[in-house]
Amino acid sequence: MPDAGSRPAPGPSSVAAAFPAPPPQDEIILTTARDGDADQIVKLQYLCYQSEAELYGDHSIAPLTETVAELRAILAAGGDGRRGDAATVLVARCGWEVVAAVRGRLDGDTCRVGRLVTHPRLRRRGLASRLLTEIELHHATAARFELFTGARSVDNIRLYTRHGYQETGRAIDGGIEMIFLGRPAGTPA
Ligand SMILES: CC(C)(COP(=O)(O)OP(=O)(O)OC[C@H]1O[C@@H](n2cnc3c(N)ncnc32)[C@H](O)[C@@H]1OP(=O)(O)O)[C@@H](O)C(=O)NCCC(=O)NCCS
Repeated sequence: MPDAGSRPAPGPSSVAAAFPAPPPQDEIILTTARDGDADQIVKLQYLCYQSEAELYGDHSIAPLTETVAELRAILAAGGDGRRGDAATVLVARCGWEVVAAVRGRLDGDTCRVGRLVTHPRLRRRGLASRLLTEIELHHATAARFELFTGARSVDNIRLYTRHGYQETGRAIDGGIEMIFLGRPAGTPA
């Protein structure tokens, strides 16, 4: 009987094969999400928004409780803005894996942007910024882009202001102070 305990330790090459390095940025492509992506997007949201839930002491925030069925309904409704639950969902895909996502919804002439997430292992490589630009390009008829984040999420606020968004107001929602930011279309990102 083989003795597993006496097997030689794996060499550096087999370790590298088991844990491949993150792919270069140019292997990540941005596309419109498909129905079959819903499960991965919901899981990615669940992973990514844990830090926000910790920050606000609230694990019932909407991105953590959205179900695959709810997201599939949004994907099926599409992004023409005619239905309240319609949105365009964009994903960054690395092979089979969805590694980042965002969505945008037309509300009159305003595009409401939300649920921006990047997998923790691929952060600070400009993926969220690329998705922000792409979701804006997808809503070429929008006169304005709006989004919100929690007032304590200073890293998010820095990302958005760097992208040309400016604070337009604040409100308390469920005991959490939210900041609303906007950017007129056509202004520099
Ligand atoms: C916010 C988020 C999408 C940024 O993704 P990203 O692909 O790393 O973003 P980019 O590389 O384009 O830009 C990096 C910037 O994002 C911001 N950022 C916010 N949270 C961050 C985090 N946890 N790690 C790294 N950057 C973060 C910072 O401003 C950072 O710039 P910096 O290097 O000057 O600090 C990602 O951190 C995330 O998924 N966070 C959890 C979910 C969330 O809070 N989404 C936004 C809801 S309003």
